[in-house]
Amino acid sequence: MKFITEILSELLENASKKAGFKEVSLPVTLSKIENVDYQCSAALGLAKTYHTSPFAIAEEIVKNVDDTNNMLSNISVAKPGYINIVVNNDFLSNYLLEYVNNLDNHAKSRIQKQKIIVDYGGANVAKPLHVGHLRSANIGESIKRICQYVGNETLGDVHLGDWGLQMGMVISEIKRLHPDLPYFDDNFKGDYPKDSPVTIHDLETMYPNASKRAKENERDKQEAKEITHLLQQGYPGYFALWKHIVNTSISDLKKNYDKLNVHFDLWLGESDTVKYYNEVINFFVSRHIAYLSQGALIVDVKNQDDTKEIPPFILQKSDGSVLYSTTDLATLVQRDREFSADKVIYVVDNRQELHFTQLFRVVQKYPILSRPMELVFAGFGTMNGKDGKPYKTRDGGVMKLQDLIEEVKSSAATKSNEETISDAVAISALKFADLSILRTKDYVFDPDKFCSFEGKTGPYLLYTLTRAKSILKKVGNVEGSFNAKYCDKSLLLNYLEYAQTILDAYNLLSPNILCDYVYNLSNIFNSFYAKTSILNERDSHKKYSMLEQTKILVKIIDKILNLLAIQTLDKM
Ligand code: ARG
Repeated sequence: MKFITEILSELLENASKKAGFKEVSLPVTLSKIENVDYQCSAALGLAKTYHTSPFAIAEEIVKNVDDTNNMLSNISVAKPGYINIVVNNDFLSNYLLEYVNNLDNHAKSRIQKQKIIVDYGGANVAKPLHVGHLRSANIGESIKRICQYVGNETLGDVHLGDWGLQMGMVISEIKRLHPDLPYFDDNFKGDYPKDSPVTIHDLETMYPNASKRAKENERDKQEAKEITHLLQQGYPGYFALWKHIVNTSISDLKKNYDKLNVHFDLWLGESDTVKYYNEVINFFVSRHIAYLSQGALIVDVKNQDDTKEIPPFILQKSDGSVLYSTTDLATLVQRDREFSADKVIYVVDNRQELHFTQLFRVVQKYPILSRPMELVFAGFGTMNGKDGKPYKTRDGGVMKLQDLIEEVKSSAATKSNEETISDAVAISALKFADLSILRTKDYVFDPDKFCSFEGKTGPYLLYTLTRAKSILKKVGNVEGSFNAKYCDKSLLLNYLEYAQTILDAYNLLSPNILCDYVYNLSNIFNSFYAKTSILNERDSHKKYSMLEQTKILVKIIDKILNLLAIQTLDKM
């Protein structure tokens, strides 16, 4: 089904051909002017070519419009050369009903389908989640859902940080506290215990302690490095203990992500790529691409036309251990070999952009992957406190997700005593705030503002949706037929922007476009219903039409909130 803007644009293009202008495209967009539905401003650009005024060109086009299908109720020219279009209500009514019946298909039919892996979340085992991970989870989940909705095959991968120095630190801390555990006994034979010697609460204090020790004491730091190295070599005791730490961490992470309505298809991590390290390193060594520099194995990724310095990509450190760069490269090989991905989207903090520039260049310059793979860095800005620094707890610590939710809950003073409702409201506030700001921008997280039931917030949208649902319930079934003339025309015209809005959000990987869209719909809807009562309407066709208008709103907001991964409510 063609978009209404495409139909109108064709109408104008045919007219312009008839008027004798060369093939030009005459895009039509939704108008912001009162009593004008759509507008085309292309005549302004044609004026130079034809040495006439844009007004005269627009008039010439309008004169030649052949509205055989009776779509327009008015078409006119406004200074300096805009073509203003008003569509007729009968046409709009029929078109809208058909459009809404096929709501899920419009965007789908317009994209080239791919197999896409979305790399988001990025939590680190044994370290607490911080606000950066929160943004990655929220934005990534939404991007994944949008990609899937338009018809791609998608896989969301949490890409756990489970292979770095923090693992050695935590193991060294466990060793310090419980030196008698069998994991530290070189002579231990037999099976290691099935149950984890540490709980998530233990881990919460262990990592900060170990990290403090490593900072203050060189010997502790060396020990953590050695343990990390031995772990990476597969030393059995450390490996068995590591497995317990990872599992303990994962079950806690799952609980946190569940609360955010964030669900991964793959729970893979850096450690799952170990099997590809030899292959990766051999690829570069055997082709003489990699070389030693101060003991480290590196690959150049500079380009001649670089305007800033792009440092070489490090494959291996001088002590033979691997780094973040190695694991990410091996992960790409895995995504190629095991998942046949056409595209990988990384939803990661902007501050990691250089790392990804290097990574992307390695695989673009050297054919280590078996297929062309599109690699996209979807970076995001920092969520800051009012002091302009990354959001922290009141005592200055890293803000943990759980505390953040509690903080938001206390700001979102709902009238409801029901725990599930106040939780959903708080989380909608948190998520909507994260998603509604341009992805790449830093923003100040202000719980009071984001929890308000007015303005561009999650609670406002939930409120609008539950209000609309309760209208539907109260009014019940009505017999009649739909006509746009009984509705808010601007609301209906905005409904028709649904698919294009989703395509825009998809192309730019920008959930904030969806937020703007539902916020606008909610505003129009709420002001319409402030003046109108469906319940008391006597004219059955009018009542039916307004009810239909409300049903479509519910349908659209539901779908968009689902794409934003914000849970909806039936009542508040
Ligand atoms: N674990 C990393 C961090 O906390 C983020 C991982 C992002 N994804 C990736 N493929 N490198 O900073």
